[in-house]
Amino acid sequence: YHFDSVYTSYSTQCEVFETVRPLVHEVMQGFEATVFAYGQTGTGKTHTMEGEIVCEEKKGIIPRAVEAIFESLGEKGKYVSSAVSASYLEIYNEELSDLLTEARGRARSREIARDRARSRETGVYAHNLSEHEVCSAADVLGLIARAQERRRVGETRMNKHSSRSHCVFTLTVTTRETTSEGMTMESTGKLHLVDLAGSECAKTAAGSAAGGGSGAHAAHDARERERKNINQSLLTLGRDVFLFPSQARIPYRDSKLTRLLQESLGGRCKTVVIATLSPSQLAVEESASTL
Ligand SMILES: Nc1ncnc2c1ncn2[C@@H]1O[C@H](COP(=O)(O)OP(=O)(O)OP(=O)(O)O)[C@@H](O)[C@H]1O
Ligand SMILES: [Mg+2]
Repeated sequence: YHFDSVYTSYSTQCEVFETVRPLVHEVMQGFEATVFAYGQTGTGKTHTMEGEIVCEEKKGIIPRAVEAIFESLGEKGKYVSSAVSASYLEIYNEELSDLLTEARGRARSREIARDRARSRETGVYAHNLSEHEVCSAADVLGLIARAQERRRVGETRMNKHSSRSHCVFTLTVTTRETTSEGMTMESTGKLHLVDLAGSECAKTAAGSAAGGGSGAHAAHDARERERKNINQSLLTLGRDVFLFPSQARIPYRDSKLTRLLQESLGGRCKTVVIATLSPSQLAVEESASTL
């Protein structure tokens, strides 16, 4: 398998974040970057991406990246002005919703002809997704805490608080600098931090939605639909993006997740993929599939 680094169960959140830190610098220079956590249910994706956001030791990549960005912005005399905004999109059963609005607003994916002047390819964006201006890391952490309550979780056999949706947290950073020639240079960078729902094979999933009562059958059907949607979008992501990134035409259309991240998964953007694995021998098949 190809990889840049390996972390064990003794690795700290801080060590893992150091892999991602260079991306934060790229974003500050106006580039687009994406970090994914990918793997079987219960293996630590949410732990890696979010962690315990208020705990200095256990906070994950999202709070650390937010703090790193505001630290850079605070460097004395570097920027004339700056603006940061945040959005948080959830994809559940191929439906989009906005985690940062009170009424759990529905967002919709829409196609736009981006950049008509240069007649670039048609893009997709989430319509109605709210963008929140933020002034400090604490502002962002407050937004995340509220969003966490709205996110869909369910119980899988391997994880009591399993994320049943994909979430894309995006920070947009605009900075203005004065060049040595006295001109003002503005750049806008984006950082997408993606916590995917976990894959679960049918064998392991069987029985996890079981329970007595008349609602059990319906609950089981809903769980099955959820699981199929999750697996389909992860399959598309794995096959089309991670395995064959150099293919001329990537069929991004097969899932909302890949379509929405199309721009950020293309060649112009830096991506870090964190594969999370179970240490259990029982999970060896799924671990191999993740890798
Ligand atoms: N490296 C780790 N160190 C300590 N605890 C961990 C670690 N990885 C995961 N955990 C714990 O294991 C449990 C499951 O992890 P988590 O919810 O992050 O899994 P997940 O990959 O997001 O699963 P799902 O796909 O079902 O959402 C959590 O209680 C989490 O705190
Ligand atoms: Mg999770």
